[in-house]
Amino acid sequence: MKQQDKDLNRRQFLTKVSAGTIATVTAGHIPAYGDIPGKTKTLAIRGGKPIRTKSWPSWPIWDKSAEDSILSVLRSGNWFRGRGTKVTEFEKKYAQVMGAKRCLATASGTTALLVAMQALGIDAGDEVIISPYTFIATYNVVFLNKALPVFADTDPETFQINPDKIEERINERTKAIIPVHILGLPANMDKINAIARKHNLVVIEDACQAWMAEWKGKKCGTLGDLGCFSFQNSKNLPSGEGGAVLGNNEEIMDRCYSIHNCGRRYGSIGGSSAYPIRGSNRRMQEFQAVILMSQMQRLEKDAERRNQNAKYLTSQIKDIPGIIPHKLYAEVNRAAYHLYPFRYKKEHFNNVPLSKFLAALQAEGIPCSGGYGPQYKDELIEEALNSRGYQRLYSKERLDKYREENHYPDNDQLCKEAVWLSQTLLLTTKEDMDDIANAIRKVYQNRDQLT
Ligand SMILES: Cc1ncc(COP(=O)(O)O)c(C=O)c1O
Repeated sequence: MKQQDKDLNRRQFLTKVSAGTIATVTAGHIPAYGDIPGKTKTLAIRGGKPIRTKSWPSWPIWDKSAEDSILSVLRSGNWFRGRGTKVTEFEKKYAQVMGAKRCLATASGTTALLVAMQALGIDAGDEVIISPYTFIATYNVVFLNKALPVFADTDPETFQINPDKIEERINERTKAIIPVHILGLPANMDKINAIARKHNLVVIEDACQAWMAEWKGKKCGTLGDLGCFSFQNSKNLPSGEGGAVLGNNEEIMDRCYSIHNCGRRYGSIGGSSAYPIRGSNRRMQEFQAVILMSQMQRLEKDAERRNQNAKYLTSQIKDIPGIIPHKLYAEVNRAAYHLYPFRYKKEHFNNVPLSKFLAALQAEGIPCSGGYGPQYKDELIEEALNSRGYQRLYSKERLDKYREENHYPDNDQLCKEAVWLSQTLLLTTKEDMDDIANAIRKVYQNRDQLT
């Protein structure tokens, strides 16, 4: 829905709402619709009673069986994959659940991305198209390969890379696109894969926030050449630290294995042998693997619940003026909802900046944050471009042009408007979603108190 369509004037509003809701009209307000159960007029940030005082689920959640399996690994003394079987078991199980031929477990999501990039031949002096709206690791892995991360602006409606902004960023040095399914919402993989095919580029999905998300019935992370996942503590599938690469090409997956295991041939784990490829140690530990296998038992049920609650929450907040829920592409069967995002339009809140809205919502008992900033303005970019390596690898003209083009107005705007709710808030009930919607509505209705 367009913003102006949402922006009801007073007369339109009165023709739309039922008589019962008109009681909420207060002088000087464009009313939202519907009264808030137990509504107080004073915002919690001004000393009023918060909408919610109950706590939200903490994370991670585990049970006794997880404790037992960790203890058994501990007592076995087989703590690394070369002496145990747990990492291999996890790889088989994760590949099966995700619908991929092969899985390689790694120490983290960052190392999964590094392995995937090397396996697909991304090298010093190459260029890689990425989204600016992502966790900094996606920038870093490109820099660590001495390649140039070239950003394509964000589509604020979906929070994903805007596929229509990718082609203009491609040149003869471009080797790959790394779409990020950021926040666990799928990027437009049909368009991205079509562009990659047309320009002979490889696609590495950064699915580090997108376990169990689906695009046209296939899991995110299985739609490109390789897909990478993170299992860091906060993630929907957590093991403290951890990661994985998924792929269907045996030869490429063999190469991934070698790269993550000091360059040894696929199948050999330790000792010295011939080294066909450069590699390092990016192996997962047996402890991580048993935690993951235990966490996987709740993965499907949690994914379903997050989706149901997200859908309901969207239905409850979508008509509040100045609140724009994220959009999912029509091809999305399911999102991972590592975060539930919406946009805040301050014009509807007396031009109060996002930080004050967030503080007011938090005071009402709803944990929330403002998300990523415009990281491409951070010092790491110049630090890289001014380094000896980059000065050798790229011409002055290329680096100057890069600096000139390093502006992403849609992403800048999104950074000023994004509101994130954590995945744990979605592991609750419909009534808990009502608390969130009521809190947002209360802040809207009493927005005069924000200034
Ligand atoms: C989008 C994205 N990419 C990459 C990573 C890196 O994963 P890790 O922290 O496991 O190294 C993360 C982790 O937060 C992420 O969210």
